[in-house]
Amino acid sequence: MKSLTCLAIFTFAFCLATAVRIKNCGGKANIDYQNIQITGCSPKLPYCIFEKNHTAQLSIPFSSNTEITSLKAVVHGVIGGIPIPFPLDNPEACGQSLTCPVAAHTNVTYFEGLPVKPIYPSLRLTVKWALQDQAGVDQVCILIPVKLQ
Ligand SMILES: *[C@@H]1O[C@H](CO)[C@@H](O)[C@H](O)[C@H]1NC(C)=O
Ligand SMILES: *[C@@H]1O[C@H](CO)[C@@H](O)[C@H](O)[C@H]1NC(C)=O
Repeated sequence: MKSLTCLAIFTFAFCLATAVRIKNCGGKANIDYQNIQITGCSPKLPYCIFEKNHTAQLSIPFSSNTEITSLKAVVHGVIGGIPIPFPLDNPEACGQSLTCPVAAHTNVTYFEGLPVKPIYPSLRLTVKWALQDQAGVDQVCILIPVKLQ
């Protein structure tokens, strides 16, 4: 009911973000939360569904307050408070979704796919997706509630 009300009043994207409660974990950039897009999220569920043998896609619009010359994804699955690394084939966003250097205060959209391996267990977890710049500073850090199935 809550999601339906939400849908009726706000835009889909806004509901998407609020329904799945994406949390900030300390990134320095300005994230456009309303336009974050993640595979398998729905306003009807409090988590996003990542299907095994599929690639979960994620896009995050943001602007940094400083110039970016390198931006590396550091992705963890947090299960029972314990972060387990989710390795990406190429964690560097520059040369992929971003054309670097990115000048300060420029709106850009980061996107990446996370291959969900069939060997992963079926459970609920929090995906912690951080993007570290050339100085090792977290520009983006978001927590996404996910169900692997
Ligand atoms: C950058 O994004 C913000 C937030 O979405 C928006 O308010 C602003 O107008 C955008 N600026 C430019 C130059 O597109
Ligand atoms: C995953 O995909 C492979 C190759 O397409 C297939 O052989 C396998 O059965 C799939 N596993 C699951 C759990 O769907």
